[in-house]
This record gives sequence, C-alpha cells and structure tokens, in this order.
Amino acid sequence: MWTLRTAERSDFDALYQLDQQCFEPGIAYSRVELMAFLSHPHSLSLLAESTSGALIGFIIAEVRRKGEMRIGHIVTIDVAEAMRRKGLGRALMFAVERRMREVGIARVRLEVAADNLGAQAFYEEEAYERIGRIQGYYLGRVDAFVMEKKLE
Ligand SMILES: CC(C)(COP(=O)(O)OP(=O)(O)OC[C@H]1O[C@@H](n2cnc3c(N)ncnc32)[C@H](O)[C@@H]1OP(=O)(O)O)[C@@H](O)C(=O)NCCC(=O)NCCS
Repeated sequence: MWTLRTAERSDFDALYQLDQQCFEPGIAYSRVELMAFLSHPHSLSLLAESTSGALIGFIIAEVRRKGEMRIGHIVTIDVAEAMRRKGLGRALMFAVERRMREVGIARVRLEVAADNLGAQAFYEEEAYERIGRIQGYYLGRVDAFVMEKKLE
C-alpha cells in the first residue's frame, strides 16, 4: 500500500529522479521547470510513498486563470514503473481532483502526447475527454491532445 501527502521542496531530488525515469529526455521536466511548478503558490503537489518511505508516484496540478474562469490543470502525473496498474495513478488523480473541488474548480485540463497511448487510456478511464490537439507541442514534433474533465 501507500500513503499520500503534500510534496515539499525537500522532496525535490526524488521527484526529479522519478520524472527523469518516467519521460524521455527533452520531455521530462528540467530541474528549473520542476522547481518552478513545485514552488508556485497555486500549485497542488501530492506524492505517494511506499510503506518503506520510498517515493513511488506524484502528481502536480495547478490552477490557471482563463478570463473570469479558473481551470485546474494537471501538469504531470508520474508513477514508478514497478508500481503501475495497481490503482496508484487513479488514487493520485482522485486526491487532486478532490482538492480542486474544495477550492471551487469546475473543470480540469491536461495535455498528453499523441504517442502516449497508455496515458491516454488512463485519462479516458478517469473520464477525461479529448477537446483539442496542439501540433508539435512536445519538442516541436509530437502533437498533444488536450483533454478535459468537468468535476461534479
Ligand atoms: C499514466 C500513469 C500515471 C498511470 O498510472 P497507474 O498507476 O499505472 O494507473 P492505474 O493503475 O491507476 O490505472 C487505472 C486504469 O487506467 C487504465 N490504464 C492505466 N495505464 C494504462 C495503460 N498503460 N494502458 C491501458 N490502460 C491503462 C486502466 O483502465 C487502469 O485500470 P486497470 O489496471 O484495472 O485496467 C502511469 O502509467 C505513468 O506514470 N506513466 C508514465 C508517465 C506518464 O505518461 N504520465 C502521463 C503524462 S501525460
């Protein structure tokens, strides 16, 4: 099993290492980008630890303003390879969406690489729907699908 808690700046190195393992070079966040997301006052960062205290997954989300509206945005979700397909991704999404609801967010968006079929299947399972496509979003050559979920 695992426990979820808010990610702190002191977790940074472990989060960075896991992100490097989850994404190919150029798509994984740089140290500067990851630190900026973690430190942003409007970001929500949760991590999952195994019973031995090892980092096994995390999610970073933030609230963005779009005109009068505030929209939740999933920046990244990373689950350690050995821990996948055990419900941890779902637990991280559930926890972040619950926090978003608590602060009055009604919809959540994210981008996913057009070639990341596993993540697309995961998000569809989590009731996210495709609402757009951004050409060359990743490295100027891989398109992204924009997906959205309306929170109840
Ligand atoms: C995408 C990711 C976060 C999913 O995490 P996870 O802990 O494995 O997901 P869960 O176990 O909660 O999966 C819930 C359901 O989503 C679907 N799903 C998850 N991963 C899937 C995959 N690779 N292929 C097909 N369906 C998948 C399944 O329906 C699954 O339920 P099931 O295992 O009972 O069939 C994880 O694979 C990951 O970290 N990938 C690398 C990083 C990444 O691509 N992040 C998304 C960036 S946009």
